[in-house]
Formats: sequence, structure tokens, C-alpha cells
Amino acid sequence: MAFVERVFSGVQPTGNLHLGNYLGAIVNFVKMQETHDCIYCVVDMHAITQGVDVWGGPAELARNTREVTAAFIASGIDPKKHIVFNQSQVSGHAELAWILNCIARIGWLNRMTQFKEKAGKDRENASVGLYDYPVLMAADILLYRATHVPVGEDQKQHLELSRDIAQKFNNDFGDSIRGHGFNDGLFFPQPEPFITGPATRVMSLRDGTKKMSKSEASDNSRINLTDDANTIAQKIRKAKTDPEPLPSEEKGLQTRPEADNLVGIYAALAGVSKHDVLKDFGGGQFSSFKNALVDVCVAKLSPIADEMKRLVADAGHVDQILIDGANRARAIADETMRSAKNIVGFIRQP
Ligand code: TYM
Repeated sequence: MAFVERVFSGVQPTGNLHLGNYLGAIVNFVKMQETHDCIYCVVDMHAITQGVDVWGGPAELARNTREVTAAFIASGIDPKKHIVFNQSQVSGHAELAWILNCIARIGWLNRMTQFKEKAGKDRENASVGLYDYPVLMAADILLYRATHVPVGEDQKQHLELSRDIAQKFNNDFGDSIRGHGFNDGLFFPQPEPFITGPATRVMSLRDGTKKMSKSEASDNSRINLTDDANTIAQKIRKAKTDPEPLPSEEKGLQTRPEADNLVGIYAALAGVSKHDVLKDFGGGQFSSFKNALVDVCVAKLSPIADEMKRLVADAGHVDQILIDGANRARAIADETMRSAKNIVGFIRQP
């Protein structure tokens, strides 16, 4: 059976939404609305997998959940035509995660590089939830039997795990799946990562070899979606560069991570290729390129920051969007859970 094409993706409400989240993920969320039915989730259950000192406690979690929702909408996601909701309102995420926990192998999870990075040296002290995070992520996607998942490059390994989990579920329960009317024996699709554009991995402004990240201590390492025009200008002017002029060809960026990063950011914001950027700025000094980068960054991000501010000021309105989205998400999720429970052999009320 060909699966109905459906898009799912999620963003954690852990504060400091930044240009990497925007260019690596949210820009593609907006684009995919034109071609697909889309479900965009504020993954609050993922957000609590690190210590409370990291995610900030209940008031901060609620504030950040509304802020991510506002960022989605301010960036152009239409919550009426598509679905926007927060994960914890749909219990199917946790329920399916349990079933998938019994499919996923410890050996598979032990290979996850993001867990190793986040747990750091003190792995014994990491939460079980942080270790199990990629299984919950597979549940998020498979609960809607989603076929396409727009994400930044750092999520690629998690997507591969989701595909392995889907395949093993289909293999382990093949006969039961067929017995419940899925004649080709495929209950879950193999979700495709959609990682595209010139900025699938936006790097820190202070170090072109490190990913731009919400948790980096220096605020100058990232452009936050809530930064005002002056802050954006200051951060870009301070961004690390090297002493050479910009190259005229893309291959000249290969050994120059900071230059490559800034050119990629410009290209993504202006909607052109890196090649085009170098046609205009190749051979020139960083100072004039940075001025142009400030202009394009402010032009793109300032209206989003303004709209986010307006939206978060009306918490009731944002919450209503999430409740309405959750009701529609739940209808799809419940259907998947009914079939999944039948397939596994759980007795339930017909
Ligand atoms: P999160 O909240 O860390 O990031 C949200 C999205 O932003 C992308 N991203 C980046 N892209 C380019 N450059 C960067 N520097 C950068 N930093 C972050 C991420 O790749 C992501 O697409 N595990 C996910 C959330 C999640 C999810 C899901 C995603 C939970 N369930 C199901 C897809 C489908 C995460 O932590 O994203």
C-alpha cells in the first residue's frame, strides 16, 4: 500500500530559538504546507529529558511552549489549514513510545551521538528519558504514520533509527498486520528525512566548527529569533571570520568554516545559492559582506520577532490554537493506536 503522504516535525520548547532552528527546519515547515498535510508539534515531553536546571521549570516550559508556537505562526505556518499542537496533549505519543521501546534495541540507542553529546561525561547521571528520547521521537512520527520529516542535519541519525524501528515493527508483527487488513504487511511507513537548503547545519558565530545551539553559553554564538535589529547587527559584526577576502568559488569555502557558514546563512535568508552569493561578494572583504548580511537578516527576522512578541502577549489565543490542534491530532493518533493495539494483541474496548 502506498502511504498517504503526510509531514510531521517537532521543535523542543527549551528557549533561545535561533537562526539554525529557523533555517534548518522552520523554513522548510512553511514550504511543505503548499504540497502536503502537515503536523507541527511543540515537543514539550522531549523538553523535560534533561535536568530541570536545563529546561527551567514549569513556568519556563509553558512560556517556551507558547514562544515556539508563536515562532511557527509568525514564520508563516497556518494552524487552521495544518495542525499545530503541543505533544503532551496527545497521550498516544507516550503510549506508542512504550510499544516502540519494546521494538528498539539497546544496541541501536547506544549508537546515538546526540545522547553522548548531551549526557557528556556523567552518563550514569543522565535521565532514562534522555537515553530513550529517540524512541519517543520515532513514536511522534509514526503515531501519524508520517512519510516526510523536515529537520536539520543533526536529526538525521534519529530519523534513521525511526526507520529501523518502523521496519522491525512491520517485520515482527507482519502476520498480525496482514490479519488486521493491511494486506501488504506494512503498518508503519519508512519516514523520509527532508534535509535541504544551503543551511541544514548552521554553525556558531563564534566558532565555525561548532553547531549553533540553544544551550551554548555565549549568546553571541547565535542569532535568536527574538533578537532586535541592533542585537542582530552587533552579533554579525562580531562574528568570527578569517583574514582572507571571500573566495569567488564555492570550493574556496571548503577549508574556511566561518566563511562557509556566513555565506550559507546569507544564501538561505536571501533564497539564493552559495554560488550566487559568491558571484556578488567573492573577492570582497568581510566587512562589506557583513553589512549586507545584517540587512538581509534584519529584513527577514525583524517582522517575525515583532509578530512573535504580539502573539505571546496573548497567551489565551496561543493556548487555544494548541488545544484546537491537539484535538485534530488526537483524532489521527487514536486511529493509529487502535490499530497498533490490535496488531500487538492488546485487548481493548471495541
Ligand atoms: P530541536 O528542538 O533541537 O531543533 C528543532 C529543529 O531545528 C534543527 N536545528 C538546526 N538546523 C540547522 N542548524 C542548526 N544549528 C540547528 N539546530 C537545530 C533541528 O535539526 C530540528 O529540526 N529531536 C528534535 C525534536 C523532535 C522531532 C520529533 C523532530 C522531537 N520529535 C519528530 C522531528 C520529528 C530536536 O531536538 O529538535
